[in-house]
Amino acid sequence: MSKVLVATEKPFAKVAVEGIREIVESAGFTFALLESYKDQSDLLKAVADADALIVRSDKVTAEVIEAAKKLKIVVRAGAGYDNLDLEACTKRGIVAMNTPGQNSNAVAELVLGLMVMMARNQYNGKSGSELKGKTLGIQAYGHIGRLVARLGKAFGMEVYSCTRSEANRKAMAEDGVKLLDSAEELYSKCQYVSTHLPAKDNTKKSLNYALLARMPKGATLVNSARKEIIDEDGLLKLMAEREDFRYVSDIQPDKLDEFKQFGERVFFTPKKMGAQTAEANINAGLAAANQIVKFLKEGDRTFQVNK
Ligand code: 3PG
Repeated sequence: MSKVLVATEKPFAKVAVEGIREIVESAGFTFALLESYKDQSDLLKAVADADALIVRSDKVTAEVIEAAKKLKIVVRAGAGYDNLDLEACTKRGIVAMNTPGQNSNAVAELVLGLMVMMARNQYNGKSGSELKGKTLGIQAYGHIGRLVARLGKAFGMEVYSCTRSEANRKAMAEDGVKLLDSAEELYSKCQYVSTHLPAKDNTKKSLNYALLARMPKGATLVNSARKEIIDEDGLLKLMAEREDFRYVSDIQPDKLDEFKQFGERVFFTPKKMGAQTAEANINAGLAAANQIVKFLKEGDRTFQVNK
């Protein structure tokens, strides 16, 4: 009987775990759970006899793949799959998938919440500002970017994005989002930028001093994506030079202590919280379980990312 392991250092809501268990067991498979583990060695032990694996931001390294002798499929319950060693998966013929769009709403809501919080000086009692009438740039118009754009419009913001994709341009036109030519233009135009770039070789450190310095007075950069896309030295230099610049992120930077010198101009969630809602956990967790069942029973490879 195939064994499906859910291994999540940051646990899903209970209701999501029970939903995954139900899908797995009604398909005739065995369900196993490793939650809130403290050490990578716990994951190495747990994967030893797993045929399928569901993870979140958990690092599925070449070592984990090596330890998972029976593994056929790993599903990242979420959007970004930079935590999966795709090369190691492909070498072993293991299918890797994500669950695109399933946790987007939770992240988009968090982004707007963070923007309001920064506009109100982290609720310190001093007079702040409103989002209405401000310019909002969406960097990467995917599932999350699109929802942030719609929420921004509901707040009365003027929303912009830039993209080369025809499908994204169509979506932007439907959403009443204005098209700009480049990231440089986006950063020059927008008082708020919400970035949704994935962490890839060509995006790492791409939010650098030169780009961020283009932002107009009263700038707020919102990062609910990945810390790797930020050039932290460049951002630190800019924030030291510009007292109007704010940075809010759902991911703790490597140089957290240095960012702390900017007081209320920065805020970092203690743990990545964007997708941490019961709804997102249910959507992404159940989608992952269903994808595994369809793959193991019918060979369905929709959402495979290591083709
Ligand atoms: C994602 O890529 O889906 C988000 O970053 C959420 O990550 P998490 O599952 O670790 O909360």
